[in-house]
Amino acid sequence: MGMTELSLTTSHALQEAVLTPRFYTTDFAAIDHMQVDHMRDEFEWIRGEFAHDYNKGHFVRNAEFGQSFDDMPERPLFLDFLERSCTAEFSGCLLYAEMVKHLQDPTLRSIFQYMSRDEGRHAGFLNKTMADLGMALDLRVLQTRKKYTYFKPKFIFYATYLSEKIGYARYITIFRHLQQQPAYRIHPIFKWFEKWCNDEYRHGEFFSLLMRSQPELLRGTNVRWVRFFLLAVCSTMYLNDARRATFYATLGLDWRAYDQTVIRLTNQIAREVFPVTLPVDNPRFYEHLDACVGLDRKLQALTGRKDPVGMALAAQTRAAIGLRLLAAYRLPAVPTTAANAWTGLVGFPNYPGPHLAA
Ligand SMILES: [Fe+2]
Ligand SMILES: [Fe+2]
Repeated sequence: MGMTELSLTTSHALQEAVLTPRFYTTDFAAIDHMQVDHMRDEFEWIRGEFAHDYNKGHFVRNAEFGQSFDDMPERPLFLDFLERSCTAEFSGCLLYAEMVKHLQDPTLRSIFQYMSRDEGRHAGFLNKTMADLGMALDLRVLQTRKKYTYFKPKFIFYATYLSEKIGYARYITIFRHLQQQPAYRIHPIFKWFEKWCNDEYRHGEFFSLLMRSQPELLRGTNVRWVRFFLLAVCSTMYLNDARRATFYATLGLDWRAYDQTVIRLTNQIAREVFPVTLPVDNPRFYEHLDACVGLDRKLQALTGRKDPVGMALAAQTRAAIGLRLLAAYRLPAVPTTAANAWTGLVGFPNYPGPHLAA
């Protein structure tokens, strides 16, 4: 089958751009060798949470999805949003399914099976919504054609933990905003985000537990990696969303205020496990990120230039973005203390302790 036979959307999702959602693979054997027995109770508790399947009946489209969206505002941008979300969800679905294939530990296997179930449901729900608009992704083609990025297990844990939590923060922030300003709800799918994001929060809780069970991942030189991934995940979103300002404006959101809310919430939550988080209150922090946005605009204006001057300018601009990110990375991180630690989400169960877990 040639590329021409792929739908335009599927081939677009396959493109390997720097800011595109990725598919990951890792050293499954090393993960299989991890010792988790000392926290078995807690892992079993969270396994029970997944088994409960809070959102079993949630992802069903209602009659509202059947209306015509031909004239909806910014339809292509909405489709782009669905496509990126679907690819990211499906990426989680595949990674967690691979974990099930390779791991021996029955508790971990079962947890990954449940999380793969959730992500498969999320991807499917998004894809059906895309199909309603005539642009479904061929997930089977994505699975076999998309390149897989290899990450060491610890990097998978930092990155996946953060994408689950930032995913939660993104969905809940949009949901709350549209609850206040329903006139901007351009599609019914946004009503599904509240319960949906609880799945993401719960997935993040599992990775938090997994990292806490391997304490060396959270100290020493690894703290630098924690800071690196915090910055990578937040700045990637910031640059991506800056490029999509019009989409957020269609939802009645200022992309910058939206992203800053999401980044703040994600950093607050991350204090449940990380010893440091990003200095979001240091004015220099957004000075650097906003400079990256300006440089990225310059870079985009150079897209397609194949002449030496254009290419040199692009390389120079990429280097300037790198320096700004490095400067943001070098700002002193905020240490997690008893006073600023995240104690859990209101209404969301925390581990009740070994004697209370029944
Ligand atoms: Fe998901
Ligand atoms: Fe998730």
